[in-house]
Amino acid sequence: MRLLILGGTQFLGRAIAAHALAAGHDVTCAARGTAGAVAAGTRFIRVDRDQPDGLAPLSHAEFDAVVDVSRHPGQVRRAVAALKERAAHWTFVSTASVYADNRTPGQHADTAELRAPTAPEIEHSTEAIYGAAKVGCEQAVGANAFICRAGLIAGPEDPTGRFTYWPARLARGGEILVGGTPDDAVQLIDVRDLANWILHAAQTSLVGIFDGIGPSMPRGRFLTECARAVGFDGTFIWSDRAFLESQGVRRWTGPRSLPLWVPLPDFAGFNTRDTAPARAHGLTLRPLAETARDTLHWMRTAGGTVTGLTADEEKAVLAAWHARHRGDT
Ligand SMILES: NC(=O)c1ccc[n+]([C@@H]2O[C@H](COP(=O)([O-])OP(=O)(O)OC[C@H]3O[C@@H](n4cnc5c(N)ncnc54)[C@H](OP(=O)(O)O)[C@@H]3O)[C@@H](O)[C@H]2O)c1
Repeated sequence: MRLLILGGTQFLGRAIAAHALAAGHDVTCAARGTAGAVAAGTRFIRVDRDQPDGLAPLSHAEFDAVVDVSRHPGQVRRAVAALKERAAHWTFVSTASVYADNRTPGQHADTAELRAPTAPEIEHSTEAIYGAAKVGCEQAVGANAFICRAGLIAGPEDPTGRFTYWPARLARGGEILVGGTPDDAVQLIDVRDLANWILHAAQTSLVGIFDGIGPSMPRGRFLTECARAVGFDGTFIWSDRAFLESQGVRRWTGPRSLPLWVPLPDFAGFNTRDTAPARAHGLTLRPLAETARDTLHWMRTAGGTVTGLTADEEKAVLAAWHARHRGDT
């Protein structure tokens, strides 16, 4: 295949390029080149998709398949207008953040309610309107495309550092602060599995709307499997929402967060998406232990990003937890 990746200078886009090259395809990545380097062996074409004629450098190229990872409706609209008719297969990488309802477990991609899209004049998304902007992007892509709504993407080169927190923290051992209960759900996908599936979709001309995520698993199992993978020999301290919030611990990601923890019941449906349709259409998944081990290796050898509570912050929160359970407070 002649594959065009609109992106390819970081994480998922780069992983798709690397897998496509390894499978013998001819790979072009088009981006500004500010996010990072493309995978070795890829053809790089510099474009700025924020410019009205930004895709002009691609105007004479022919591609069998295009993969777009953009978050910005304007970029997607211009790419579809310039390239979609000429490509046999089109993938748009979307997100589970398009869904309006995070509370109801077990929803399906084809029936779940979506957020209202951003207004057509909004060209650019920000963190605050990310989900709504992705709905706008999906609408701009239109029918006859593979829309892959990714959930949490984990693995080597993850720029967000949120999954990485867990193998990194578990590898340090000792008493470890965890949020919620062992039965709460966790759901993620290894970037390499997602990349392989996106490539498979292009090769098999798969179209339609799918959630791109691994199976929902209990948080206790998630931690035990990651712990075993990195040789953790410490103790889990399970802490509830009220306590974490009283300590100013944030949910999900970022500074002072307990990454991947989400408060219930607000997010009771968040990590329970049905992965069966994806698996029925070619998604295959590696063991979580492999993701944990490889992510830790990447973090240690390449200085990969980690977000979440610092060691001192966690220590202070654990001290408060012990004080509360001794009855000091
Ligand atoms: N990470 C997660 O856990 C997660 C979860 C759900 C869904 N997703 C989705 O998964 C995808 C991840 O993609 P990704 O890892 O490849 O990262 P990304 O951050 O979405 O990458 C954006 C790409 O677009 C390029 N780009 C941005 N502005 C541009 C411009 N003006 N002109 C040309 N190129 C531009 C960037 O390259 P330059 O900056 O070099 O131009 C980069 O390669 C996204 O669609 C994201 O929404 C991610």
